[in-house]
Amino acid sequence: MAIDLLIKNIKLLQHNRLVEGCISVENGRIYYIGKETHQPSADVIIDGQGYVALPGAVDIHVHFRDPGRVHKEDFTTGSMAAVAGGVTTVIDMPNTNPHTNTLSHYKEKKEIGEKKAIVDFSLHAGVSEDEKKLQELLQSNIPSIKVYMPELDDPLSTLRYIYSLIVENNLNTKVVIHAEDPQIIAQEKAKLEQRKAKRDLLYHYLMRTPKAEVSAVESVIKLLRDYQATTHLCHISTRESTNLIRKAKQEKLPLTSECTPHHLLLSYPELMNLGPIAKCDPPLRTKDDTIAILESLKEHIIDIIASDHAPHTLEEKLKGEDDITKAPSGIVGVETLVPLALTLVHNGFLTLADVVERISTKPAQIFCLNHRKGALKKGLDADIMLVDLKKQWVIKGSKLHGKTKFTPFEGKTVYGKVMKTFIRGTLVYDNEKIIGKPGYGSFVYPYWIGEKHAY
Ligand code: DOR
Ligand code: ZN
Ligand code: ZN
Repeated sequence: MAIDLLIKNIKLLQHNRLVEGCISVENGRIYYIGKETHQPSADVIIDGQGYVALPGAVDIHVHFRDPGRVHKEDFTTGSMAAVAGGVTTVIDMPNTNPHTNTLSHYKEKKEIGEKKAIVDFSLHAGVSEDEKKLQELLQSNIPSIKVYMPELDDPLSTLRYIYSLIVENNLNTKVVIHAEDPQIIAQEKAKLEQRKAKRDLLYHYLMRTPKAEVSAVESVIKLLRDYQATTHLCHISTRESTNLIRKAKQEKLPLTSECTPHHLLLSYPELMNLGPIAKCDPPLRTKDDTIAILESLKEHIIDIIASDHAPHTLEEKLKGEDDITKAPSGIVGVETLVPLALTLVHNGFLTLADVVERISTKPAQIFCLNHRKGALKKGLDADIMLVDLKKQWVIKGSKLHGKTKFTPFEGKTVYGKVMKTFIRGTLVYDNEKIIGKPGYGSFVYPYWIGEKHAY
């Protein structure tokens, strides 16, 4: 009997060494991975041209803006950017319109994704002010809930409420946190306004002071000592936060964290001239902070890299040229995540195995998708990127596949290019061409879900 697909003539990563081999796929799952000793007959045979096969990246932090803000991005265009960058699974953030903060909005968004996504996906739910709705969501066994602290009147009491529901009901839901203290931001803003500070990128940088993040991270860690509910901190941006997380991990608190490529590689003040294009929350920080983030990533204090792909139109961004407060925050990144991470290998900062762990294996593990995603192993989904590790190329916003055609990484030389992307054994991207069709992407449940869920 012939198997569905054979990808031959590829290199496989084994114990940090590249060896020649092949992968065969049956029913969307990896059937065989290893040496090309025997050549099973297959319905489709693809020549991997000597490229390196890596597990597709799992980007657990994207804003695909669907529904409600689809002029910025939607599930299809976000997916196009994802697969062109070797990302095969995404987890979408809830700040869409409507906000994904009720069970019915969660189900609606899931249906939209199932119609429009090319990549496999999951969804983070958001927080509703209405406690009943929040309870209903949590008790439906949603995989994760995103708490955007800067938006809440009293973020710590909201967090306490969520944690107590999780602990009392013995839920597996993960708490995902944007940690910035709204009170500290408001105080800094008042100071800047009082001295009539020019509203440029420096204003934004000073307003969203490192103190706001550090204080929020500190508060979350304190709460974790009481509640012991699994928590993930988004886009860590300061050295001081990494020190707090290191201590929390020494205490064995159930905490994981992520950094973005932009907080890892870009810093102020070099980027002052980029203006609103470089505006994001938390803001880009100093060179020293980027060094601390890289060190922490090496040490597993920061566990993973996620893009925080946050598209806005150029028109929206340029509104902030004379007054930064008028521009929305956000940087696109789902398509450049893998090449930027591979460039860390080229530059000798991380090994290839380290990078695979930080962009595929660990994100899948942290979000309980590792029964299907995050590794090239028999039985797992055949989510594969074929990468030309030697290819040197230059990032150009105009070439990106999502709706946003600009990036603060414009002109950056990167090393490593995604040549082909497969999701569940189907070729969805092939050398600059998007082949996957909207509706191919499917919702991925966490491994613990069982029968008891309502979405
Ligand atoms: O820069 C950001 N943009 N940070 C966030 O937390 C939100 C995001 C967005 O949705 O645009
Ligand atoms: Zn955030
Ligand atoms: Zn975000």
